[in-house]
Amino acid sequence: MEKKTLWQGTVKKVINPLNLVKVVQLEKNRKVTARSANDAQLKLYSKILKGDFLHYGYFDDRDISAEDISFSMIYKAQERYAEKILDLIPNGESKKHVLDVGCGMGGLLGMLNTRGHKAIGLTPDINQVQYIREHYPNPTLHCRFEEIPTAEYQGAFDVIITSESLQYLNLDQSLPLIKTLLRPGGCWIACDYFRTHPESFEKSGHIWEDFETRLKQLNFNLESTEDITPHILPTIAFAHLWGTRVGVPVLDFLIEKLKVKNPGWYYLAEDVIPQLLEKVESNLKVVDPLQFSATKKYMLMKIT
Ligand SMILES: C[S@@+](CC[C@H](N)C(=O)[O-])C[C@H]1O[C@@H](n2cnc3c(N)ncnc32)[C@H](O)[C@@H]1O
Repeated sequence: MEKKTLWQGTVKKVINPLNLVKVVQLEKNRKVTARSANDAQLKLYSKILKGDFLHYGYFDDRDISAEDISFSMIYKAQERYAEKILDLIPNGESKKHVLDVGCGMGGLLGMLNTRGHKAIGLTPDINQVQYIREHYPNPTLHCRFEEIPTAEYQGAFDVIITSESLQYLNLDQSLPLIKTLLRPGGCWIACDYFRTHPESFEKSGHIWEDFETRLKQLNFNLESTEDITPHILPTIAFAHLWGTRVGVPVLDFLIEKLKVKNPGWYYLAEDVIPQLLEKVESNLKVVDPLQFSATKKYMLMKIT
């Protein structure tokens, strides 16, 4: 479309009162679809990271500098993270029935298959379900964990895994559910980050103290715990480096370019730009390794 036509199309849309009503309606209804059903952020990660994992990964070398990290190192770290989880599955002759809650793009299902386990995936995200159905043979339940058909799966699993998915779950519903779905003697392997300072600016992750209290109340036993925070920080530092060194300068460049090349568009967007930059700043704070380690910790746990 030519620039003139683009302008004309937009101006026509904006001056038509019916279109303005539509804009208001669209904005009003924007939260009706649950984020977990089609998570744009996770979709973005899956496009950036090609290794079928959506977690932070585990770097054996915790001192590696973000400048020295490559994408293939991130993939390796993600596989290492998955191995750390799989190594917690109790040994024994028999292969296990495993439920991978919030299975993402299915990377862990593939590794469970390689080790001979019988694994089922579960995710509420339609993009992930479609991807897994195309790439992995494992049955995959398309629902939130809180909605799993309990009667069908009562006592069905030797192992339940939540690999960076626990933070999304409603604890009131999910903790009793895990008890119900595990067979007697089964175990739950959880790997995720928790807030150590409830008042911290960023609200993702459950509050560690509250989580521990809930486990006690439900007679869960924290059989093993490992604080792996220093080993996931390199990935966060890598994301922060890309954001500050590439993302922000590119955004500044685009804004400058708009100002010079399309002053009309710039005039229209002028009031929104500071908000956009603020949003970028706050997203960068989330992946600031210093902020993360000051307010959160990343735990690998075996719970029985
Ligand atoms: C950060 S990703 C981790 C994906 C995968 N476990 C991995 O390690 O690569 C979080 C996963 O939890 C899923 N999730 C979000 N809300 C959920 C819910 N209520 N029940 C089950 N899974 C959920 C997301 O769709 C996604 O698959």
